[in-house]
Amino acid sequence: MDSHQKIGIFDSGLGGVSVVYTIHQMMPLESIVYIGDSVNAPYGTKSPEAVFEHSKAVCDRLVSEGVKAIVIACNTATSAAAERLRGLYDIPIIGMEPAVKPALKASEGTVLVLATEMTLREKKFQNLLASLKDSERVVKCPAPDLVTLVETQLSEKRLIRKTVAQYLDAFPEPDAIVLGCTHFIFLKQVIAAYYDGRVPIFDGNLGTARQLQKQLKQRNLLIESPQKMPATVTFLNEKPGYAELSEALFEELADMEKAEQIQKVQENLGKLLGVGLFDEKSEKIFKLYYGVGTERMDIQAISKEMKLSVKKLQPLLERMDKKVFNTLKKQPLF
Ligand code: DGL
Repeated sequence: MDSHQKIGIFDSGLGGVSVVYTIHQMMPLESIVYIGDSVNAPYGTKSPEAVFEHSKAVCDRLVSEGVKAIVIACNTATSAAAERLRGLYDIPIIGMEPAVKPALKASEGTVLVLATEMTLREKKFQNLLASLKDSERVVKCPAPDLVTLVETQLSEKRLIRKTVAQYLDAFPEPDAIVLGCTHFIFLKQVIAAYYDGRVPIFDGNLGTARQLQKQLKQRNLLIESPQKMPATVTFLNEKPGYAELSEALFEELADMEKAEQIQKVQENLGKLLGVGLFDEKSEKIFKLYYGVGTERMDIQAISKEMKLSVKKLQPLLERMDKKVFNTLKKQPLF
């Protein structure tokens, strides 16, 4: 086993693409091969034995691709199969866990956990609750239809909003939400909008990525410096068109992250400007570019307004983006 081998990641379908994104952000030097088992999705309504069999078939395929570790980017498969899979293969197998712990820590009232029926019913989740002292604040919301929607009708925005609302209408507004199914990451903005952005949303992706990084490091399997060959991210899925769809979703996640950051920038402009990021002219461009206190403008419109050529503006905006996002990452402004 050596560090140059790829990391294998799988899920019942599209949900795990969000885990690939987080892992790639954290470890951009690592090559990844992802298998979405969309032909057998959803897992959450099947028996644990069936989920184990499907997971094993996917892991066999990943092992034959020569991966150095496997990430089960699926809470359901982790609950049903992780322990047994670990007994079968000689490489680290990292699972997922609904982010109940951080959600309880960050809130005082109820924590609503959206996941598949299997995740919420299985022993792993019961053990997790039993290990937490505040677990009586946890409310479970099995949401099987949301998995199918993400898997097959992600572009049907109205239907998605309606179905999400049907699930959430059944509960008083919680203090925090946990996305205990990787498919639901793609519904994050819809769920946030349902509560007008008042309810913080937690997921287990970062925890899983950290766990993977730790285990690779412990075994000397982590790539620590840039390689001659650039890292690759490969999406495999036997359902026609789904490998391409996974790639498109992977790209979309970068846009989603940027949109979230922009929202934070807009909400916290005062604090951000207080950090002394810009001179007067750049501050004006910044406000137009991010739509702070005004409509957002595109680069052409800003160029006209500020009497600056697009050629000069482009690198300035790129530097601005970088500066803003790096500052947001480094400084606890929010
Ligand atoms: N994405 C999966 C999870 O995290 C499960 C979806 C399913 O296939 O039911 O639980």
